[in-house]
Amino acid sequence: MSMVKVAVFASGKGSNFQAMLDADNLPCEIVLLVCDQQQAGVLDKAKQHGIETFVFSAKNYESKEAYESEIAEQLRKKGIEWIFLAGYMRLIGPTLLEAYEGKIVNIHPSYLPAFPGKDAIGQAFEAGVEETGVTVHFIDEGMDTGPIIEQVAVPILANDTKETLQKRIQAVEHRLYPQVIRELIQK
Ligand code: GAR
Repeated sequence: MSMVKVAVFASGKGSNFQAMLDADNLPCEIVLLVCDQQQAGVLDKAKQHGIETFVFSAKNYESKEAYESEIAEQLRKKGIEWIFLAGYMRLIGPTLLEAYEGKIVNIHPSYLPAFPGKDAIGQAFEAGVEETGVTVHFIDEGMDTGPIIEQVAVPILANDTKETLQKRIQAVEHRLYPQVIRELIQK
C-alpha cells in the first residue's frame, strides 16, 4: 500500500519541518515543500533530504488566487492529500481552502485564541502572563483561527528570557506536531 502524500508549507528556518522528517513512523510521505521565501533556511533542509520544493514570490503574481491556483495544480499533480503549515506566514485563501477542505492543519506557538499572529512567543512574554502554549488546529480564512485539534500549555518561568521560552515552546512543537499528524492520518 502506498503512503499518504502530504505537503508542508513553510517560510522560515524549518525546525518543525525537520521534526517531521526526523519523526519515527510518520504514516505519510512528505513529497513537496512549498515556500514563499527564496532565502528560507527550510529550503536547505529540503535539499538535504531530497524533497522537492515549490518556491514562489507572492509579489510576482497579481493575486493570492493566482499563486494559490498554481500551488493547487502542483499539489493535485503529485496526489497530495494533506497540507501541514509549519511556520508559513501567509493566510491561506479560498482557492486552497476549497481544494483541501478539512485537510489543512497549522501549528501556532501559543495557547489559542490567545496571541494569534506574528511573534506569538514575544507577545506572550511581553504580556507578562504565567502560561502560554502550543496549538495545532485546522485552518479557516482567519489568522490562526479554526477548529482546535490539540493544545499543550507551557508555563512562563520567572527567570525566562524570550529565548529560553522560545526553546521550550519549540521543543513542545517538535514533539506535538508529528504526534498529531500521526493521529490525523491514521483515522
Ligand atoms: C513555529 O514556532 C510555528 O509555530 C510558528 O512559526 C515558527 C516556525 O518555526 N508559526 C506561526 O507563528 C503561525 N502563525 P520553524 O520554521 O523553525 O518551524
